[in-house]
Amino acid sequence: MRTALNNPFQPGSDVVPEIWAGRTAQLSDWRDVLRPRLEAGLFERGRTILGEPGLGKSSLVRRIANEAERQGDWVTPQIRIAVGSDPIKRLAAELLVIADKAGLSTGRETRLTRLLQRVESIAINGVSLALSPSEGQEPHSALTEMLVEIGRVAIGRGTVVLIHIDEIQNIDDERTLSQLLIALGDAITRIVEVDVPGVGRLERSLPIAVYLTGLPEFDEASGARKGATFTRRFATTVLAPLEDDDLRTALRPLVIDGWEVADGEGGFARIRMQSSAAEAIVDLSRGEPFLFQLAGQKAWYAGRGDVITYDEVVRGWREAQAEATSHVERILDRLPSREREFLEAMADLQPSDRTLTKIATEAGFAKSTDAGPPSQRLDRVRGIITRGKPYSFRHRALEAFLTSDWPDVE
Ligand SMILES: Nc1ncnc2c1ncn2[C@@H]1O[C@H](COP(=O)(O)OP(=O)(O)O)[C@@H](O)[C@H]1O
Ligand SMILES: [Mg+2]
Repeated sequence: MRTALNNPFQPGSDVVPEIWAGRTAQLSDWRDVLRPRLEAGLFERGRTILGEPGLGKSSLVRRIANEAERQGDWVTPQIRIAVGSDPIKRLAAELLVIADKAGLSTGRETRLTRLLQRVESIAINGVSLALSPSEGQEPHSALTEMLVEIGRVAIGRGTVVLIHIDEIQNIDDERTLSQLLIALGDAITRIVEVDVPGVGRLERSLPIAVYLTGLPEFDEASGARKGATFTRRFATTVLAPLEDDDLRTALRPLVIDGWEVADGEGGFARIRMQSSAAEAIVDLSRGEPFLFQLAGQKAWYAGRGDVITYDEVVRGWREAQAEATSHVERILDRLPSREREFLEAMADLQPSDRTLTKIATEAGFAKSTDAGPPSQRLDRVRGIITRGKPYSFRHRALEAFLTSDWPDVE
């Protein structure tokens, strides 16, 4: 029986859904590049993953972090930055937890004890009050040293440290942002010497992976705010919507074998999905992970039988329409007016007519060069369009919303 308790679809932020789709490039980057290289002592940049709301940035890194934790790596929870909160304080507190795991807090070395005290004071007082000027040290250096100590223990244990800072665009204070990025950046670029039995002393990097996630606006933070070395220390990816094939593949277990649920009588039942129903969910979601979960969740609730039907998907989606609309409107509303006008003008033109000049005219821009900056940002910073010949939409839900009746279904 389909109930709220066994519904595997989960719209909402910050959860790793049971029905997972795609993102294979990013998952394999962790499994096949980042983690193995860090474990081997090779340098790897931190990862910055940006994208419009609902594209699955937080879920992606939580999934990677969960996988890492199952392997025995030391991971922080999602360090979610609220506007006006102090990220340095949060990071310090999480590093103390990891230091404890690493056994550092029980050490007797005076140097370590003092370092822990400094980090504790940062965790309590935050960035501004943490250190009196007489101590002559910026908070970032204490955090870096803490990371280095943790990293050294991690080397001995063959484990990797994963730090996840989310909603990074919310750090609006310049000094705080640069403190944070320097603390993390100095740790991942630090070279340490280790004794390798039978080989001797070797230089290596620390096994520390840093993931920063947030809205594309983070990319606008000027070079000065982020520090000149930022791009040498962090590699940035802008997430695109999921491919239809990824969504299809994610639904296959439901279509082929059915999804196992408790039948309420101590046994198990399998909930299957008609392939036409799966196809309808794929079509309605337009590559948006959030809408995919929403469509699935509502379809699950739209009936009680062992098979999710096409009609149930449509009925469920009617319930979801208002939310789907506000999801897309939220993305549009966040855009600066120039960018929004650009998109609307682009949507009003036939796909083959979408050239920079024609879009600029359609948008009523005085000169076609005025369309340059917004179109660049929509492409490079936000990943909403592709400036090909002609221009096209990468964000398929926005395209559908601006060019058709979607999300309305008949
Ligand atoms: N790869 C994925 N496959 C299926 N659903 C996903 C995937 N990534 C995210 N989701 C779902 O999409 C919604 C939004 O994800 P979230 O990570 O909160 O987005 P963001 O952090 O980019 O705003 C959540 O309901 C989540 O379960
Ligand atoms: Mg998020």
